[in-house]
Amino acid sequence: MKTKALSVIAILLISGLAFQGCKQAPETKASSDKYRLVWTDDPTATITVAWNQIQADTNPVVMYGTKDHGRKFWKYEGSKTADRVLDKYDMHTHFAKLTGLTPGTAYYFVIKDDAGVSDRYWFRTAPDKPEPFTFVAGGDTKSSGKPLDAGRATNRIVSKLRPLFVLYAGDFCSGNGTDAGRWHLWLDDWQKYVTTSDGRMIPIVPVHGNHENGDQANLNYIFNAPYQQNDSSKIYYSLSFGGDFFHVITLNSSVGVNGEQRDWLENDLKKHRDFTFKIAAYHKPIWPHTTSKGEHPEEYNAWAQLFYDYGLDISIDGDTHLSKITYPLRPDSTAADSYMGYVRDDEKGTIFMGEGSWGAHPRPNDDDKPWTIKSASLNQIKWVHVMPEEGDLPDRLSIYTVISATYGEKDTLTVYDQEVEALTEVNLMDIPANINLLDYGEYGKVIRYPFILNEIESKVGEESFYGDGSGK
Ligand SMILES: [Fe+2]
Repeated sequence: MKTKALSVIAILLISGLAFQGCKQAPETKASSDKYRLVWTDDPTATITVAWNQIQADTNPVVMYGTKDHGRKFWKYEGSKTADRVLDKYDMHTHFAKLTGLTPGTAYYFVIKDDAGVSDRYWFRTAPDKPEPFTFVAGGDTKSSGKPLDAGRATNRIVSKLRPLFVLYAGDFCSGNGTDAGRWHLWLDDWQKYVTTSDGRMIPIVPVHGNHENGDQANLNYIFNAPYQQNDSSKIYYSLSFGGDFFHVITLNSSVGVNGEQRDWLENDLKKHRDFTFKIAAYHKPIWPHTTSKGEHPEEYNAWAQLFYDYGLDISIDGDTHLSKITYPLRPDSTAADSYMGYVRDDEKGTIFMGEGSWGAHPRPNDDDKPWTIKSASLNQIKWVHVMPEEGDLPDRLSIYTVISATYGEKDTLTVYDQEVEALTEVNLMDIPANINLLDYGEYGKVIRYPFILNEIESKVGEESFYGDGSGK
């Protein structure tokens, strides 16, 4: 009798499991859109999932975990509801911050509500020790016409490159950042074009630009971007990963760059001075490479010496709508070869690169300096390979300028995303076939940092000398 009862229980259990296994994910989609991921503090263990909830009161929740269960939401171990809900720009924005994540790990997720379940997406947390990775830096998109098309081509290239993150140096939409429709367009495009073919979403690290000046808190509304001094108009912050390998600083060229922000920067640089790589991004270039844009001595006065004193490796800017990269620079106004307060310093200087032509129509590059390596008038992003030391090779960066679009006679737009080979999760450090890389002249298509590596490489003349694609 007892045996029979046990058998019945076993059959019930097995059939229950079988039922569970056969259970189908609902066909209906969640009532939400404009999905995006944001890194704002510790990307090894946290990420912010943001979306627009279309239908209110439907109990939206992010279901996530390290195993891919597709849209079978009930199988994911983790669940998180929004920490913050915000009605702004005709969106019912939800921010859910996932915490306690494992570093360097793939996470799969869906957003579920009473209406249904989203597509399955995934992301990768940042490593907590030095590991090779790539990131993309760029900025300046527009909301219509050819600049919108060019920006979409750039988005599609980013999805093919699968960087660990995008550092976006400001100016998201045409206008002053208070037009709801333009934000809708930008966010829809970001989800549609930057997400990879297998649903990987690339986290964004957003930086405030002057086209967000209609409300200085715009990036807090859109990305939950952090701010300083308990003042949501002061959006600047930093984040680190890889142990003490990589530190990212975002600055704000639209609020006072001296005073509080300078003090914050000095304190942040001081705290992270021993990091292997330190990079900073802000929107307005100190000395732009076009004559039609104003110069920013106030930034030079507030930041230049700090960048040098604390060993900032790379400075990234936007705004001007062209491509530039400089030699490593040290502030010095008295040396005989000083120009605009800078001299070349291959050993300890900061490389300045930019200047923001993700989508916006390129301006003429008619203001080169003696310390400019290369400028160009075209649509582009910077793609940076970050490699930790191995064997005789030091910790190093390889900087590529990826051309996404150019204009010909009669302002004809040509885009370069279609033919670019899509990288996969197993060849993320490769150079994809048919990618259009800017030629820097004597250095070929890649600038190495520390800068001395360029000299060594030109003598050796070998491909893949530094362990990643050559680009030469
Ligand atoms: Fe700008």
